[in-house]
Amino acid sequence: MTTLVDNFDRQVRYVRISVTDRCDFRCVYCMSEDMTFLPRAQVLTLEELTMVARAFVELGVEKIRLTGGEPLVRRGIDQLVSDIGALPGLKDFTMTTNGASLRKHAETLRKGGMQRLNISLDSLDAERFRRVTRTGQLSKVIDGIHAAKEAGFERIKLNAVILKGRNDDEVLDLVEFARQENVDISFIEEMPLGDVSDHSRAETFCSSDEVQAMIEQHHPLVPTTETTLGPSRYFRMSDSDTRIGFISPHSHNFCSTCNRVRVTVEGRLLLCLGNEHSVDLREVLRRHPGDMDVLKQRIIDAMPLKPERHHFTTDGDVQIVRFMNMTGG
Ligand code: GTP
Ligand code: 5AD
Ligand code: SF4
Repeated sequence: MTTLVDNFDRQVRYVRISVTDRCDFRCVYCMSEDMTFLPRAQVLTLEELTMVARAFVELGVEKIRLTGGEPLVRRGIDQLVSDIGALPGLKDFTMTTNGASLRKHAETLRKGGMQRLNISLDSLDAERFRRVTRTGQLSKVIDGIHAAKEAGFERIKLNAVILKGRNDDEVLDLVEFARQENVDISFIEEMPLGDVSDHSRAETFCSSDEVQAMIEQHHPLVPTTETTLGPSRYFRMSDSDTRIGFISPHSHNFCSTCNRVRVTVEGRLLLCLGNEHSVDLREVLRRHPGDMDVLKQRIIDAMPLKPERHHFTTDGDVQIVRFMNMTGG
């Protein structure tokens, strides 16, 4: 049972830890073309990241997701995964990745105790995939998905951010791909983090209801109460094991059931994706090295700062200046 409860009686059971702000892709909704990354001294070490994970698990958190940037570009990631994977009391250990390096890492991640993987995939067309990610190669990601399946993860989920005029014509193809590969897929509404300058978010906004309607023309969707403790609302089809999820921060606000906080790679405990309320854990880690009690107390004391909800709009204004890669997705 978690000891972390906020002022709205929400229990924090899920922590997203960002292990790097760097990425080998530059997805148009996530980063600007010319990103600068953090200097090494500002980034938590692997030992500090493990200590943060341990503190949360000792406080009753059951689920840890490693994010980025792209977690697999962090040097020492395999070791970090096995250190966190060995923490007693951790029930669900997962990662969100762009998939491009999974051929190299999937087996080690699985052996290190990771149970699930979420892999971003916005297009099945190589040219278009390159345009959305700016630097990504589709074939590597597809191969990465296959490597993850071979490594025997309990569950693999694809994530697709749908942008009108960019990839909304691929919704059904993405569903077919997920069905063929026997993996789950979530469709995500774009969020206004960072000035991405590539497109007008007001023009590209595509609601989950529109995406759902496209799918339902071919596959009736039955809602299910199954949950991964994340924000996705899941649906099932009658003729496949694939679950279809919708992450709809704009059209179906899920803040009232929020159970998560984030830790950025600088050690900022961010209490909400859509607000700036945060507490500096790096300062505690460096001022009291190895002192688990002080760290845990700082985390407990942060809980009342968790805001009730985000106030994202779809009018195209940037509401949070930090980019998604700085936020941990
Ligand atoms: P599961 O454990 O499989 O449920 O994963 P997840 O959906 O929690 O994590 P993932 O990293 O796959 O995130 C998918 C999308 O959901 C990303 O765009 C995240 O930014 C978004 N997301 C996750 N948590 C929150 C949240 O608390 N608030 C908002 N607004 N978006 C979130
Ligand atoms: N809005 C919605 N989702 C985003 N992601 C990255 N940036 C955004 C954004 N602005 C997604 C990625 C990945 C997950 C961690 O977050 O596609 O699947
Ligand atoms: Fe990298 Fe993920 Fe951001 Fe794309 S969405 S640039 S893959 S961190």
